[in-house]
Amino acid sequence: MVKKIRASVPAKVILFGEHFVVYGKRALATAINRRLAVEVSSREKEGYHVKIENIPTFGLEMDLEHKKEGNIKALPYKDYDAVTKATAYVKESIVYLEERYGIGGEGVEIEIKSEIPLSAGLGSSAATCVATIAALKEYFGVSGDLEGIRNDAHHVEKAVQGAASPVDTAISTYGGYVLVEKGEVKRLHLPELDLIVGCIGSIPLSMDTKKASEMGLKTKRIVEEVKVRKESFKEIFDSIFDASDAITAQALNAIENCDFVKLGALMNINHGLLDAIGVVPRRLSELVKMSQGSGALGAKVTGAGGLDEMGSVGSVLVLPGESVDRIKATMEIAGAFVMDVKTGEEGLKVANTY
Ligand code: MEV
Repeated sequence: MVKKIRASVPAKVILFGEHFVVYGKRALATAINRRLAVEVSSREKEGYHVKIENIPTFGLEMDLEHKKEGNIKALPYKDYDAVTKATAYVKESIVYLEERYGIGGEGVEIEIKSEIPLSAGLGSSAATCVATIAALKEYFGVSGDLEGIRNDAHHVEKAVQGAASPVDTAISTYGGYVLVEKGEVKRLHLPELDLIVGCIGSIPLSMDTKKASEMGLKTKRIVEEVKVRKESFKEIFDSIFDASDAITAQALNAIENCDFVKLGALMNINHGLLDAIGVVPRRLSELVKMSQGSGALGAKVTGAGGLDEMGSVGSVLVLPGESVDRIKATMEIAGAFVMDVKTGEEGLKVANTY
């Protein structure tokens, strides 16, 4: 029987404190029940063959060139960076594992299947790194624990992006809830929540190819823009950042006590602060307002946010209360890819078949 390893990891959402966490304020994140799986098996030819399937919200436009009857040639209309971005994490994981643990020397097939939208702030990059590293380490018999996998993945994510907070790799590896406080990651046990995630995921036709390929660096650019604004309005931003820290602390309490009305109100305030620091583009703002207007207890941008000139690509998080169907329909009409999600999902799972 062919040796096959399957590693799967969850997506993440930041519930409170994104951006503010970059400056040492508290942030609360959770794993959600959308997973990415990497399967590693052998192939006859030496080297690595990588196949990526089922990535939601990834759109490919095609020009159909009809040369002669029976011969339709499909040319890619744009070189979307989303796919090269996903492969960059796989490539860097392989390079890193070869150098660090001396893996390789035989033909390997790597197949990635994902339910996590790309560039949406849901941790697809960290998920790719953690699952690829876990599957390859198991396949090549490299011993180690979960923390070793998380460390390796964090290293690879940083090598590709230049910078990365420890939130995403911790959530992908351990699942559950994570509180980040002064750069330290703490795992928490909190009750499960039912939430809605809405993603604006497709790159508009009007966007030029260069901009489309800058998408992979969206988070880095937004974080840099916040830094510039923070320097110009130091005192005001200091108060906003302190307010966010207080929100995260109160939110922890609200989740522990299952006080959903308070939790929703805190999400709405957190969203207001994210808008104040300039990370809420028009289409994500509309999704939040529409959800609030349709009866949501709370709604906010999650993750890095977005930029108008990058088509508002990004995600919002909604605590729906009683109006789940109405909110979902409203968000779909506004063009979002909508998912029902549960928090506290299990972390890395590795299965070994021979
Ligand atoms: C991105 O998902 C979250 C940010 O806070 C950046 C980070 O924590 O590395 C914007």
